[in-house]
Amino acid sequence: MLEVRGLSVSYGPVQALSGISLEVGEGEIVALVGANGAGKSSLIHAVAGLVPAAAGKVVFRGEQVLGLPGHRIFRRGIALCPEGRMVLGGLTVEENLKLAAPKRRSFDDLYGLFPRLGERASSRGAALSGGEAQMLAIARALAQEPRLLLLDEPSLGLAPNAVQAIFALLPQLRDRGLTILLVEQNLVQALRAADRAYLLESGRIARQGPAEALLRDERIVEQYLGLGQEG
Ligand SMILES: Nc1ncnc2c1ncn2[C@@H]1O[C@H](COP(=O)(O)OP(=O)(O)O)[C@@H](O)[C@H]1O
Ligand SMILES: [Mg+2]
Repeated sequence: MLEVRGLSVSYGPVQALSGISLEVGEGEIVALVGANGAGKSSLIHAVAGLVPAAAGKVVFRGEQVLGLPGHRIFRRGIALCPEGRMVLGGLTVEENLKLAAPKRRSFDDLYGLFPRLGERASSRGAALSGGEAQMLAIARALAQEPRLLLLDEPSLGLAPNAVQAIFALLPQLRDRGLTILLVEQNLVQALRAADRAYLLESGRIARQGPAEALLRDERIVEQYLGLGQEG
């Protein structure tokens, strides 16, 4: 469904990505894991058309999308749920959703998926817990019914039970027909949730394979546990 070939991204003198290639098949959950600064956000921002690429190809459902403006890539079915959630604190849950999908009459399907958001539909964004805000950020990305969800660090800063709830949601989303590219520093949780994974180090793919195989590789897991990641 998504094919990235030789993608490079630079910010002035800083080369964030050096010729990355990866694939995401329809219906897969693919994890892109790596330390802070490895280039994970740069990759999904380039796919979503939010940062320009210096070189490479991004093919989505058979069409090259690299170079298209973000709103056109979005219309083709790629939605980004950004790092930091970006929930508007002064607006209610429902207003946040309306802003993402102004033509929609009802958000009942999303409230079915996230019952807690339904209960809090008229609460202001600022009053939500971290886990609720993350659910709202995901619901907002889903409001336009994308085919591919780019999910940037959904577990960051959440309490353990909220982290569990977010990761438990991913197979449900996949069962609804969504394909997911999950970006995480939380290596162990991400590998447990994913079918396949890529390990990014300093803008290059260091390892790739079935998530289970990477999870069984003690060197990988220990290295990341050593960096303060928790499992
Ligand atoms: N807007 C920017 N301007 C300059 N450098 C940036 C910018 N965004 C990211 N970088 C740099 O690019 C590298 C990769 O960053 P990023 O893609 O955010 O990594 P990650 O998401 O894995 O933490 C880092 O060295 C970071 O400092
Ligand atoms: Mg990031």
